[in-house]
Amino acid sequence: MTGMTSVPWPRAWHDALYAGHGFYRSPAGPGGHFATSTQGIPGGGALFARAVATLADEHRFDTVVDLGCGRGELLGHLRPLLPHVRLLGVDVVPRPADLPEDVDWVQSPGGAELPDDLVGLPGGTLLLAHEWLDVVPCEIGEVDDHGLVRRVLVEPSSGEERLGDPLPGEDLQWCARHWPLEQAVPGDRVEVGRARDEAWERALKIVGRGIAVAVDYGHRRVERPRHGTLTGYRSGHQVRPVPDGSCDLTAHVAMDSLDHDDLLDQRKALHRLGVRAGTPAHALARRDPSAYLVQLAESSAAAALTAPGGLGDFLWAFRYLT
Ligand SMILES: C[S@@+](CC[C@H](N)C(=O)[O-])C[C@H]1O[C@@H](n2cnc3c(N)ncnc32)[C@H](O)[C@@H]1O
Repeated sequence: MTGMTSVPWPRAWHDALYAGHGFYRSPAGPGGHFATSTQGIPGGGALFARAVATLADEHRFDTVVDLGCGRGELLGHLRPLLPHVRLLGVDVVPRPADLPEDVDWVQSPGGAELPDDLVGLPGGTLLLAHEWLDVVPCEIGEVDDHGLVRRVLVEPSSGEERLGDPLPGEDLQWCARHWPLEQAVPGDRVEVGRARDEAWERALKIVGRGIAVAVDYGHRRVERPRHGTLTGYRSGHQVRPVPDGSCDLTAHVAMDSLDHDDLLDQRKALHRLGVRAGTPAHALARRDPSAYLVQLAESSAAAALTAPGGLGDFLWAFRYLT
C-alpha cells in the first residue's frame, strides 16, 4: 500500500523539516547533528566570523543578517568583532536564550518561505545565507525507461519512492537552461533548483543596499551530479533520506543558477578575506610559546575551512545590491 500515500518530495521534505515537530524545530538545532564552517569545528566558527567581519568592515556595513543561522553561533562570534554593527539572526525557532542580548532575531516560517516583513533593510547590509539553500526543498525528477523525466514521489514514513507525473513545464524549462538532460539515461536524476533560485530572490529583497552571499555545497553546470545528492543526517551520521522528521534532509545546490555576480570556492573567498593555513614560525615557539599555540590552532582551523575535497570546495555566490 506504500504508493497510496506518496507525495512529491518538496512537500514531504518541507513537512519533515519545518512542520510543527519538524527536524529543525527540535531543541538540538543543527549543531546537535552536524558540524559546519560556523560551528562544531574547533576554532572554525571564530575564524569564519573574522572573515565575515572583514567583509562587513571593508564595506562599512550597518547590518549583518545571518539567514538560517541555526542557534546563532556565528552571530555570537561576530558580536565582539563588530561592536557597532546591528546583528540579526533569522531562523525557524524562537530567539535562543543564550544569544548575546544585543543580537536581534526574527523567526521565520522555514524552507523557501521567509518572514513577510523582512524587506529592504535600511543602510548597508551584508546578508549571509550559510548552508540555508541546501535545506530548501526542491523538486526531484528521474528519467524513466522511456526517457521521460518524471517527478519522484515519496512515502513519508518509509522513504519508499515511486515515479509520478512528468515534471511540470516550468521545471523542464529550468532544466533546459541549467541542467541539460539530453544525454541522460533511465535512472538519472535531476534536483531542480527552481525553488532555491526563487527563495534566493526573496532573500535578496531583505537587503536594501549591500551584498548578499549564499554559501553552500553545490555544483556548477559542468559538474551536475547524475545520480542525485539528496541525503539525510542525524547525530553526526549520514543516513537514508526518510522524510519522517527524524533527520536532516539536504541536497546540493545548483549554485550557478542563483542570481549572482561572482561565484568563488570557499578557499578563494576565505583567502581574499585573510584566512590562510600555514605553520607559524618556529622562532615564535621559543619566544612566545602560548602565542605559537594560538597560531597553530588557527592554522589548523584555516586548513579545515579551506580543505580541498572538504569545506574549501563550498561555493560562495555573491550578489551586489545597490
Ligand atoms: C544546515 S542548517 C545551517 C545552520 C547554520 N547556518 C550553520 O552554518 O551551522 C540550516 C538552517 O537553516 C534554517 N532555515 C531553513 N529554512 C529557513 C528559512 N526559511 N528561514 C530561516 N531559517 C531557515 C534551519 O532551521 C537551519 O537552522
